[in-house]
Amino acid sequence: SNPPTLFSPLKIRDVTFQNRIWVAPMCTYSADNGHLTDFHLVHLSAFAYRGASLTIIEATSVLPNGRISPQDSGLWQDSQIAPLRRVADFLHSQNQKLGIQLAHAGRKASTCAPWLGERGKATTATEDVGGWPDDVMGASAIRWGEGYPKPREMSPQDIQDVVNGFRDSARRSVEAGVDVIEIHGAHGYLISSFLSPISNQRTDKYGGSFENRIRILVEIIKAIRGVVPSTMPLLVRVSATEWMEKQAAESWDVESTIRLAKLLPSLGVDLLDVSSGGNNEAQIIAMHNDCQVSFAGRIRSALFEAGIKDLLIGAVGMITEAEAAKAIVENGQPGKKDDTVQIEDEQGSTAKADIVLVARQFLREPEWVLRVAYRLGVEVQWPLQYGRGQFLEGSR
Ligand code: FNR
Repeated sequence: SNPPTLFSPLKIRDVTFQNRIWVAPMCTYSADNGHLTDFHLVHLSAFAYRGASLTIIEATSVLPNGRISPQDSGLWQDSQIAPLRRVADFLHSQNQKLGIQLAHAGRKASTCAPWLGERGKATTATEDVGGWPDDVMGASAIRWGEGYPKPREMSPQDIQDVVNGFRDSARRSVEAGVDVIEIHGAHGYLISSFLSPISNQRTDKYGGSFENRIRILVEIIKAIRGVVPSTMPLLVRVSATEWMEKQAAESWDVESTIRLAKLLPSLGVDLLDVSSGGNNEAQIIAMHNDCQVSFAGRIRSALFEAGIKDLLIGAVGMITEAEAAKAIVENGQPGKKDDTVQIEDEQGSTAKADIVLVARQFLREPEWVLRVAYRLGVEVQWPLQYGRGQFLEGSR
């Protein structure tokens, strides 16, 4: 019998993923002046060699002042390429793919790593602990909340520097052998804060209307597409909603995300990774286990209804069980330009997403892909070095 969609390969542009399970980006506060360290090699490899078909490196800053903390990874200078290449080489030796999330933290920059600041609270990283509180910038000069530095409103030159930073970091990613780039447009970091009419109060061409608020993201996408090969997949992560519908007359909500999503394929974006929240201290999150996954489903359906089938959707958030992961992507394979075939059941596609991204479950169980395969009775290749174990184990 055919394997479930979860374990069937997916090709995006020229990159083939073994399955539909990806590791979501996770900050580890373990870089050395932006350079990846041994910790990153071990941490990322643990997922990849046990079967995650794409492992995405944590938010990696395109400029020094775009780091969330002084210990964040970065790609603003050429010396940061070599340690990244080391990770890419190892993942490729295991037949897996490496992604990187390129980011700028905006007004949420220069904070302390969670275990260095005040417990459970954001703490500004001052200069004596390597921070840059006087060089924090945002769409507008509005502080995120208590514990965060006061940002300056970005000048047109600051905006150009950020766009160029994304472009140059994308070029360095390609040089290092990275397979996939994700743009971090979620969680209240720089791009996310431009999208929202609450955090973006600008009166120039980067603020006001929807078109103006998405302009920086569009410029970043174009800049990256201009320097990466056309064979390389490009992903965008957004907060589907900033969870301010009840508190504000106008905010970034799921309708805004759908509107944005419709524009992405023609810009060369292949997949929208659907997260939520993080842009507002006043957010009220109607949290249930399925909430972000259902946003993904809503966005995917809206695209299908509009006849747009060339933007893949990634679901993330509280996915911990094999059956749930299977159901999210089962039977849903939109026609991706010239490669995959459209498969729909009688009601049309039942899938909420094309890919599941998982973060915390991989921290609990780095071998989660192997466990899911075992639960679902799917035969997958173990790491070669474990082949004898697989032989003794029998067929799975
Ligand atoms: C995260 N998350 C995150 N998101 C992101 O876009 N960039 C990042 O660098 C990070 N960093 C990060 C660190 C850690 C330790 C965690 C747990 C999470 C969010 C993450 O990618 C994911 O969206 C959420 O954790 C929800 O998925 P899970 O954990 O429920 O599978």
